[in-house]
Amino acid sequence: MQKKQVKDSDLVKQIKELKKARNAVLLVHNYQLPEVQEVADFRGDSLELSRIAAKTEAEVIVFCGVHFMAETASILCPDKTILLPDAGAGCPMANMMTAQELIDLKKKHPKAVAVGYVNTSAEVKAELDICCTSTNAVAVVNHLKNEKEIIFVPDKYLGDYVARRTKRKLILWNGFCPTHMRILPEDILREKKFHPKAKVLVHPECLPAVLEMADAVLSTSGMGKFAKETPANEMIVGTEVGIIYRLKTDNPDKEFYPASERAVCPNMKRTTLEKILFSLQELREEVRVSDSVRSRARKAIDRMLEII
Ligand code: 13P
Ligand code: SF4
Repeated sequence: MQKKQVKDSDLVKQIKELKKARNAVLLVHNYQLPEVQEVADFRGDSLELSRIAAKTEAEVIVFCGVHFMAETASILCPDKTILLPDAGAGCPMANMMTAQELIDLKKKHPKAVAVGYVNTSAEVKAELDICCTSTNAVAVVNHLKNEKEIIFVPDKYLGDYVARRTKRKLILWNGFCPTHMRILPEDILREKKFHPKAKVLVHPECLPAVLEMADAVLSTSGMGKFAKETPANEMIVGTEVGIIYRLKTDNPDKEFYPASERAVCPNMKRTTLEKILFSLQELREEVRVSDSVRSRARKAIDRMLEII
């Protein structure tokens, strides 16, 4: 254990030095490992991080998250070098829909407007009319009040939640997050028994039966805000377990209990300090979206940013 700490502090020192030399920033998603969160210049949800990427003066952005997030950063800031420390860190949900599948779905519903979750590839985003995140999905669909038909992809659970909140019938795709699906209603019941005073916060990627048991349905940044503002001292958290570290460091006097220890996203855990250092040394793996895809995908993101 002590050996690991010495090794980590040495790695952190090297990362910091190289970051300066490369004029780089480290953007870290809320689900990343604690030691990775500790070296972050900025922590946040997928969209917050991309917005920071677009504003930063740095030339190199090390994106500690998954592939679609690095792609979104590349779409928003094509002149910067975007690095993903582990090229294999994908998002299974984003991989559940290809651009061709979306094109086919749009052909079946030619009058529908296509809304897509940010958890999609750049090629899928290029086929969307408008993008959304878990923070603003309800607002985006509410904004489309004059549209008769709305396609919502790829997450069927987020889509189902948005449909119920907006009272709109949405055309859904059969995508889902394998990590959030592991959180079951019995997990919430068990944790509530142990912590009867705790508020239950869940991510809208969870199963509908889990959402029904929640005090609040929130994105990861929404959970951060809720935890700070609520008078409650205890919270049961229904999302990927990495967020517990973030919530606890921001709110040391409050207690956070994962709804399920099984809600681990293996892709989010692929990024390590060693890989970050290697990424800065070798400037790899670079994620770059081609100009033709980028300009079309950018329109869907810009439309979302105009609304919220
Ligand atoms: P956020 O956009 O809320 O950070 O979520 C991203 C994600 O992958 C959720 O599983
Ligand atoms: Fe994708 Fe789920 Fe992992 Fe988020 S938690 S990156 S949606 S697999």
